[in-house]
Amino acid sequence: MTIKKVGIIGIGNVGRHVMLDLVNQGIPDEIVLVDLKDEKSRCEATDINAGMAYMPNRVKVYAGTYEDLADASLIVTSFGKIELTSVGNDRNGEMPFTIDAARKVGAKLKACGFHGVLIDITNPCDVISHKLAEILGLPRGRVFGTGTGLDTARLLYRLSADSGVDQRSITAYMLGEHGVAVFAPLSVVSFHGVPLAELAKDNPKLRYSQKAISKAIFDDAWAVCDVKHCTEHGIAATAARMAKVVLNDEKTIMPASAPLDGEYGEKAVFAGVPCLLGKDGIERILELPLTPDEKAVFHDCCESIRQNIAKAETFGEYKA
Ligand SMILES: NC(=O)c1ccc[n+]([C@@H]2O[C@H](COP(=O)([O-])OP(=O)(O)OC[C@H]3O[C@@H](n4cnc5c(N)ncnc54)[C@H](O)[C@@H]3O)[C@@H](O)[C@H]2O)c1
Repeated sequence: MTIKKVGIIGIGNVGRHVMLDLVNQGIPDEIVLVDLKDEKSRCEATDINAGMAYMPNRVKVYAGTYEDLADASLIVTSFGKIELTSVGNDRNGEMPFTIDAARKVGAKLKACGFHGVLIDITNPCDVISHKLAEILGLPRGRVFGTGTGLDTARLLYRLSADSGVDQRSITAYMLGEHGVAVFAPLSVVSFHGVPLAELAKDNPKLRYSQKAISKAIFDDAWAVCDVKHCTEHGIAATAARMAKVVLNDEKTIMPASAPLDGEYGEKAVFAGVPCLLGKDGIERILELPLTPDEKAVFHDCCESIRQNIAKAETFGEYKA
């Protein structure tokens, strides 16, 4: 019998919500919590175990070490310092801290011999996913980011509210960076095969412009951050869904931050695109039939991420 063991590294707002979603949905058998501050992972484990008697699934949750992560099937990284994003509402504000942390976390994971699938949440998500993949050196696709998975869920929510159709009957994507350089290609939005333009004929709410809807989705995130200084539920649901797909080898298509190597004409970059997810992580990258204008916007997004990847290299050890 194989035990489904998941590690979470960084048990702040996001990490503890990922833990809760994994337990409530009974996705793994075992969860190892690791944080820079041992007392945080210990307290979160004690707190969730206090409620296990009333939870729908019995999952073993404990604070552990990198040695405990060596044989994990899957690791979710959610380390960070969220207060650094509040300066100018910029996910890149965290980069000097998170790129240094990624180097340290990546080196420890490599040293302990971890060889499963890693899903990165830490921001800037595409840059950190790229760095962790580079350090771990696992087969392509084994390390990826939640990327535009969350942005896409936000888009689906809006499309559902405006059309009255359940999110699960809609195909739509946010592509590019989990950050500023992200957009919604409207040409590929469909309602189980019926194009958006068709439904928009008798529903004026669905007559979006690409720029306006992309900005609205971006603003939705910061409206939450302005009040609660973090987002946690949407991203936890996104990561838990990806974890379930990987652990159960579901072969589901979801947007994720993927290592592009020629797809969409892009190289040397991680960016949010539709991916086939299964036991090996990203098992295939799917290329959408974008219009020439959408292709150009996607290229600009990738350029922006590549610039951030290069910028990350200019940061040394983080000093508070
Ligand atoms: N990709 C997305 O869609 C998305 C959405 C929301 C948040 N985020 C990102 O997720 C990360 C976590 O957000 P949060 O609100 O939980 O932050 P937080 O500041 O509440 O928690 C971060 C945790 O990471 C720990 N940590 C820091 N450095 C570490 C290291 N080297 N090793 C282990 N643990 C370490 C901290 O002690 C802390 O407990 C941030 O980078 C945030 O920007 C991403």
